[in-house]
Amino acid sequence: MSVCTITGLTKEQQERWSHLYRHLVEDIEVPDVSTIDEARIQALDSELSSLIKKIGDAKAKSRESLTKHLKSLLFRRFGKNAVVEAFGSSVTNLSIGTGDLDLCLSFKNKPPQKVLRKLSGLFHEEGMENIQVIPKARIPIIKFKDPRSGLDVDISLDNRLAIHNSMMLKSYAQEERLQRLIQMVKYWASRRGINNAFEGTLSSYAWTLLSIQHAQLVQPPLAPNRQKDVEPNPLTFKGTTYDVSYNDEHFATKNNQSLASLLISFFERFATRWDWETMVVSIRSGEALSAKAKKWQHTGPLPLEVVTGADDGWMEHIMPIEDPYNHEHDLSRVVRAEGAMTIQNEFMRIIELLSKGSSWKDICEPVMDIEEEPSDLFHDLRSTSPDEIATRLEQLRADLEVVESQIRELVEERQHSKELLDLLRGGLRETRNVRSDRQQILSELRPLSMKVQEMREVRDGINQRIAIPTKRIKQEMLRIFEKLTAEVDVFSAPNLGVEKGDFAYFFELQAMYEASLKSNEAHQEFIKLRREQNQEYRALKKTKKQEEDVLAKLAASNPALEGIHPNPKSVKEFQKNAKLLQRSINERYSSKHELRREIGRLEAWQRVSKKKQRGANRRAPRNDRQQRSRRPKAPEVNINEVRQKASSGGSISLNELDALLSKGGIASIGSSDGQKQQQKQRQSKKRSSRKIDIRQGRTRGRKETRK
Ligand code: CTP
Ligand code: MG
Repeated sequence: MSVCTITGLTKEQQERWSHLYRHLVEDIEVPDVSTIDEARIQALDSELSSLIKKIGDAKAKSRESLTKHLKSLLFRRFGKNAVVEAFGSSVTNLSIGTGDLDLCLSFKNKPPQKVLRKLSGLFHEEGMENIQVIPKARIPIIKFKDPRSGLDVDISLDNRLAIHNSMMLKSYAQEERLQRLIQMVKYWASRRGINNAFEGTLSSYAWTLLSIQHAQLVQPPLAPNRQKDVEPNPLTFKGTTYDVSYNDEHFATKNNQSLASLLISFFERFATRWDWETMVVSIRSGEALSAKAKKWQHTGPLPLEVVTGADDGWMEHIMPIEDPYNHEHDLSRVVRAEGAMTIQNEFMRIIELLSKGSSWKDICEPVMDIEEEPSDLFHDLRSTSPDEIATRLEQLRADLEVVESQIRELVEERQHSKELLDLLRGGLRETRNVRSDRQQILSELRPLSMKVQEMREVRDGINQRIAIPTKRIKQEMLRIFEKLTAEVDVFSAPNLGVEKGDFAYFFELQAMYEASLKSNEAHQEFIKLRREQNQEYRALKKTKKQEEDVLAKLAASNPALEGIHPNPKSVKEFQKNAKLLQRSINERYSSKHELRREIGRLEAWQRVSKKKQRGANRRAPRNDRQQRSRRPKAPEVNINEVRQKASSGGSISLNELDALLSKGGIASIGSSDGQKQQQKQRQSKKRSSRKIDIRQGRTRGRKETRK
């Protein structure tokens, strides 16, 4: 692998970012697009006008009906608590036809628990594809693709600021040239793959803000600062208050530049003059802010250092763009090193191409791996006999029935399992107190039993040493005492030895007496402890009984729960089972949608080929003149018009589809104009002294500075 010794970029990276790379390693100047001649500007302007007419908003209708459908789906699921509002390009008039559908879901009252998971299940059942849940984002989002319309949908939760900033963007878009400028910048960014915050480049929204800033800075200004001199409109959201005011008044601009000229100066500004290190894009200020004053100076490594592996630190404020309402939010926070390199590369590329006079079509040549559409939707069916297709359809319909019945069964099972889980959870709640009581009793019982044992040992130890009961000891002590203290009969007086023995016996009895008292005390304590112990045992039994009652109640409500203890372990097992069931259901739903699509395709082919057959029959020579004259003639089809319609997403009739298929299929769409050869000119004119700073991978030279 050959690595550049100057930049550290690998061969692959050098190719990927070739425009930027050349400027990094060769001492070439950045072309000056401000001197492009008028004829070229006019040519670009007319190209832009026809593109704008063409892109229109081909998906507006689909977006509208999908919004309606999703709204009713969400209302059905969450009731009147749910509020669904559209925002983004479908309401700002800034769509370029390919944009996603942005919806905001909020709740009037308390939001339902685990709402993202519920949404994911709901959209799965609806047959939505590529469902992605992003719960940890600043605003939680669920993304998916609607296979019917092909639209990407973003549903964000409680995204109130977006609703407000969309209204302000719509207000800015009142000025038609600004609206077109934004659309063209978004179009370029989308075709060149640099408008995806989730993939580490800037969002369409960020490109929109750049365009507005440009319109505020051109002289005379094309756009006002809509947040200046306006009554505050405070909105408190997640504990912070934002001023979401804007001035919606018409702005009479004195600027009369053409769209092309505005577009060229946009790229000139942001690709070559804007000092991203010291300036912050800020439409609420109407001009750049100082990165230093805002404390948004770039920290961390440079993109080049990250992509070459020289530094793996975290980049901050790489292209600072302030959100007009949430001033703490830098829209370049999502930009990753690769994304930043790609944006710089695209900036370099467009400056080169504009200076060479390339067409907008070439400039916006798509880079994305646009999925290869099959050249003909029915390519594999053309050589298949109608009988075979009918058999296949029959089989597919039978498979669909099987899958649908499996789904029904699984859904029923999941419902059943969910009910059991709810019961079990209820049981768990009911027995929670009982279980904690039992824990308490057991924790008290353990030391109590030890004490009982201890007392028993004390008592029995003493009793082993003194075999005589206390009462007998007392009697013996009395007897000996009397004997020792009785009047002495001199004739029968005991001798000294006997008397000594009696004294010793008396003292022994005395010691025995004391020990026996201790034994009695230990016994009393033992009895007391035993009583306490018995009480605890009885309480323990009671908790068992209570638990058994709950279990019996559970089993009575649902015999399937017989013998299942409502403890956290069994709840977990049930949850696991519910998850597995859901997974199987989702898999079946995917198969169902695939089957349906294939059935639809085969049925469409049957219709097309029947029609074709009829046409062929009509063309065949016939004797029956009367019959022939009664048959309606198929309308003439202009293949170029059909291609035009198909490429702009318009609906086409079966007759037109048939014509399209027989004239090169879907792949032929867009080919009628004939592709222009890409200009091969490599050398760029050295018109200004601007160069790229190799260390930084940034432009330097005649930079724009804050006014
Ligand atoms: N938005 C936001 N903050 C962001 C990104 C987006 O508030 N960091 C909001 C804005 O209200 C914006 C909307 O989300 O208008 C949609 O964003 P995006 O899809 O990027 O812009 P669109 O104009 O809808 O672009 P496209 O036509 O490509 O969908
Ligand atoms: Mg959008």
